[in-house]
Amino acid sequence: MRNIFIACDTSDPKKVNKIIKNSQFKIKGYRVGYKFGLEFFYSIKGRQFISKLKNKVIFLDLKLSDIGNTCAAAIKSLKDLKNINYLTVHANSGEATLKSVVRATRKYNKKIRVIAITVLTSISNANIKKIGHTKSIKDLVRKQTLLSKACGCHGIVCSGSETKFVKKIFKKEIIVPGIRLKGDSAGDQKRVSGPKEAFSNGATSIVIGRSVTKNNIRKNIKRLIKELK
Ligand code: C5P
Repeated sequence: MRNIFIACDTSDPKKVNKIIKNSQFKIKGYRVGYKFGLEFFYSIKGRQFISKLKNKVIFLDLKLSDIGNTCAAAIKSLKDLKNINYLTVHANSGEATLKSVVRATRKYNKKIRVIAITVLTSISNANIKKIGHTKSIKDLVRKQTLLSKACGCHGIVCSGSETKFVKKIFKKEIIVPGIRLKGDSAGDQKRVSGPKEAFSNGATSIVIGRSVTKNNIRKNIKRLIKELK
């Protein structure tokens, strides 16, 4: 089953309710899930709201990036959230952190699938050089995917441009954000792809935010369904 995660990038629970209410749809082979990131989780009501969501596929995009001990302790602090299906950690945090996160989820919340973020979709080849990397995005994604695999992560996040080669070296979940519907602007994203393109190149899930949540959600969902067919 392919997941379509709608990014609930807001700090307002009412807006999340609106997104959920207007984005329910059924197409064979796909299921809809909801992604909550830093903005919502850090907000006063965010965590509690998430804890009460029932019968939804929930992707908690906390993008952990700290020493292993701290990340494991953070996962322990999440152990009451039994409804979380996916949790993210930066592959850049390194082997010890990735292993520690996998170990901690096994201990405190077996249901959580650990997803390693490779190179953010908002980063271009020029940006990556400024950070100090000498490799291309492609090489870095390859290295980080292999590291995540060796550490026992259940999936990775990369852009739609990398899925074709990633799927050759990684047979688990490949989640692709930076999805844009036809005619929508890329905004801050640098490596964007269409929903159909991402799935046909090997994504097992996509994450779509503004193309669905901006303006009329129902109309955008219709556009998404049309593009997927
Ligand atoms: O609005 P848009 O579709 O660009 O939102 C993309 C979502 O995916 C955001 O919530 C962002 O935090 C997340 N994301 C990303 N790139 C990654 C990992 C997550 O854009 N590599």
